[in-house]
Amino acid sequence: MNFSRRQMLAGLAGLGVVGLAGGARYWLGRTESTPTHDYELIAAPLDVELVPGHVTPAWGYGGQAPGLELRARQGDWLRVRFINRLPEPTTIHWHGIRLPLEMDGVPYVSQLPVRPGEHFDYRFQVHDAGSFWYHPHTTSAEQLGRGLVGPLIVEERDGSGFRHERTLCLKNWHVDKQGAFTDFSIAREAARVGTLGLLSTINGRHLPDIDLPAGQVVRLRLINVDNTMTYRLNLPGGDARIYALDGNPVAPRPLGKEYWLGPGMRLDLALRVPPAGQPLSLRNGPMRLATFRSVGSHEAPVDWPAPLPANPIAEPDLQRAETLRFNFEWSGAVSRNVQQGGAHQFWQINGKAWDINDKTCADRPIASLRKDGHYVLEFRNLSQYQHPIHLHGMSFKVIGSNRRRIEPYFTDTFLLGKNETARVALVADNPGVWMLHCHVIDHMETGLMAAIEVA
Ligand code: C2O
Ligand code: CU
Ligand code: CU
Repeated sequence: MNFSRRQMLAGLAGLGVVGLAGGARYWLGRTESTPTHDYELIAAPLDVELVPGHVTPAWGYGGQAPGLELRARQGDWLRVRFINRLPEPTTIHWHGIRLPLEMDGVPYVSQLPVRPGEHFDYRFQVHDAGSFWYHPHTTSAEQLGRGLVGPLIVEERDGSGFRHERTLCLKNWHVDKQGAFTDFSIAREAARVGTLGLLSTINGRHLPDIDLPAGQVVRLRLINVDNTMTYRLNLPGGDARIYALDGNPVAPRPLGKEYWLGPGMRLDLALRVPPAGQPLSLRNGPMRLATFRSVGSHEAPVDWPAPLPANPIAEPDLQRAETLRFNFEWSGAVSRNVQQGGAHQFWQINGKAWDINDKTCADRPIASLRKDGHYVLEFRNLSQYQHPIHLHGMSFKVIGSNRRRIEPYFTDTFLLGKNETARVALVADNPGVWMLHCHVIDHMETGLMAAIEVA
């Protein structure tokens, strides 16, 4: 089994293909009877054609950018042998997966960076079903910017009611009209909204046509793998319902006017595909991202699937929870540190800026949580920019906001609006030193990151 899988990967790595639009990638040769998964995942330079007729020197996982879709079944172990064939050190972080610290992919906290030519074996059990993703946690603006981002799909243990699904990775590439990379990070942008890429893509294609079976209900797994962009997703005229947010099921509700999907976030939609010949546009605000083409299907029409089963996340007890406050702010002062080889510091959490060049930052956690203690974290945004606030190692329940009505739900990333204060709650059931950071990569790399200890 492993042999054929490896062969396939090796084959793909040589082709230099861009990820195909819209195809759910079930692994060939996957043996249903084996309760384990085995991937050999190679990160390597990869020429892709993002702009027709031009070559972009991307970096890819498993011979594609965005990377190979990894799949596992809830409750199983995922075993990935990761091989670094890049010209620089890297790691893999499994975004949204609750796992032991040694598997979390944070350099100098979880593991040493994997150097060129080396490999690292990631092995962990997947407790939660849903749409997740993976990416490095080293030199992130460039490594994610070049294409080192990939989907990780954990299938529901007992299946879901969906017969069709598509994974759609959203990314705005930092390339010019000739496909050449532009700056992944510009200081003046990092101090504001973050450096935006100009070429919008889904699964590596600009404005793709995606064929969907007419009359069927399709699960769309939208994953924001972009460094910077918050997509304001809408589907004019489409009959779509939200089934999960950031991997975690919610009571199905209509998509509504638009959904703001910040960097790192995921949205699982059920879309009732219109009759054949009636296309739909997936848009970011007024901008088209893709066209869904409805193509003839011989299957009988189906009803909306049942809600997805909840993930086994510990329920925080608000009565006995202790409240911890986190202020996210613009640091005002300009980057004293840069002359001494430090990183720009435009942003702070509770008055402290993380320095990505200082390997000892995680030795000074900004909060210490008791193992199995119940906590409310109050996130306060004191800036004029929104921040998708992400926590490693544990999922949290969003319980309130001073700016909007919240239907409580579990997530790993919360898009904290301008000047918003939100409250989230969790049970600190995973010991370790966990990163809390903004997923706008420019913000994370210029201060908006901290470590939280659970012991
Ligand atoms: Cu996608 Cu530190 O995370
Ligand atoms: Cu993460
Ligand atoms: Cu931010």
